[in-house]
Amino acid sequence: MEKLKVHSGHKLFGSIDICSSKNALLPILAGSVLCDGEVTLLNIPNFSDIDKMCAILRSLGAGVVRFGNTISINAKIIDKTVVSYELGKDIRASIIFLGAILSKFKTCKIGQPGGCMIGSRPIDLHIKGLRALGAKIIEEHGYLFCDGKDMKASTFTFEKQSVGATENLMLASILLKGNTILHNCAKEPEVVDLANFLNSMGANVCGAGTNTITIYGVEKLHSTTYQAIGDRIVAGTYLVATAITGGNVEICNINPKHLGYVLKKLAFCGCNIIAKNDRILLSAEKRCKSLKSITTGVFPKFPTDMQSAFLTLMAVSKGSCVIQEKLFDGRFKQVPELVKMGAKIDVFCNMAKVVGVERLSGADVSATDLRAGAGLVLAGLNADGYTTIDNIHFIDRGYDHIERDLSLLGAEIERIS
Ligand code: EPZ
Repeated sequence: MEKLKVHSGHKLFGSIDICSSKNALLPILAGSVLCDGEVTLLNIPNFSDIDKMCAILRSLGAGVVRFGNTISINAKIIDKTVVSYELGKDIRASIIFLGAILSKFKTCKIGQPGGCMIGSRPIDLHIKGLRALGAKIIEEHGYLFCDGKDMKASTFTFEKQSVGATENLMLASILLKGNTILHNCAKEPEVVDLANFLNSMGANVCGAGTNTITIYGVEKLHSTTYQAIGDRIVAGTYLVATAITGGNVEICNINPKHLGYVLKKLAFCGCNIIAKNDRILLSAEKRCKSLKSITTGVFPKFPTDMQSAFLTLMAVSKGSCVIQEKLFDGRFKQVPELVKMGAKIDVFCNMAKVVGVERLSGADVSATDLRAGAGLVLAGLNADGYTTIDNIHFIDRGYDHIERDLSLLGAEIERIS
């Protein structure tokens, strides 16, 4: 079983190119089902979640070829409409195939999705929205049996903002005759990137990034070559790593507007930040000051996926902070591991009270999910002595060899078996 071994004592310096965004690429891979030609995706990182989505595409009959960091997909030859539980159970994004398959084939059988164990992850908003478009959906034996023959363009309002449900309904509407109007949509940059990808194939999606998205149905989608946006959570993770070690780093291939709230919080902690159109420079001369409070929310509020990194940052900053996690009820799972390293954190319900300490102490810890695992790596960059982290397959879901990136910036970290 591979582990990561981290030693503190090194400020991070240098420049790094951020890979394409996992949470943009996963729905884009699902959306490639709709294409009548060939989809070529550039600058693809080695995330295990991407491999899993490609395996689902192949199981549908699509041709999927990866050479280097390019993936080429031929969806024209898809001849199946079943997404097996086996292939979909480990990732949340498998459910996004539902909208695309229904839009193109009008029928789909799909297993309940999986994903990081960060709390309950219902799909009621996906189902309600697809039923509003006329899909007939029966849930039994852990599968959704879906009939889309009577689907038609409609107007639907989400009762709460959901990234995945917004993406699923966008995909489900692309090939429907007429105009579908979706209200109270998620506004995350990854939703906008999916719309841009679809429009690059000749779709007609307007308003992505705002509350209301209108999809004008088209007959078919043509080939495209596309590069997704930079991964804002990977970028944010490395910015926090720089803040924790007191370094000076340039993060390239990232749109600072995708991290607006996070950059503001880092500036309040005492970091010097320069944001340019496709890069962010951060330097931290001294130990960060704690924020009074952090509350997660939907974009453009503080992203829940950055909460674990900031939990670690607050654990080693000067002062105390109250962190409120409002999206997922299981996103403080790394607290016991951080406490083992000497952190002072108390959790009650969806709140964590953090009193910063100057130095944690290295220990053997275990990752419990993707972002919590990355938070433990960040803790190791501060802790005295060595920290080893196991269950790093969680981290590999959304970081392409995090040890390689951090070593490039001067950290002492290696993958050991
Ligand atoms: C996406 O998950 C991301 N995953 C998550 O990133 C991210 O944390 C989340 O959006 C929020 O930004 C991908 O894009 C693959 P939601 P998603 O639907 O779509 C509730 C990571 O670490 N909800 O926006 O599943 C839900 O419980 C991952 O990269 C329902 O109640 O998130 C949550 O409280 C983790 N019913 C809120 O909505 C539903 O049908 C937002 O969830 C769907 C969601």
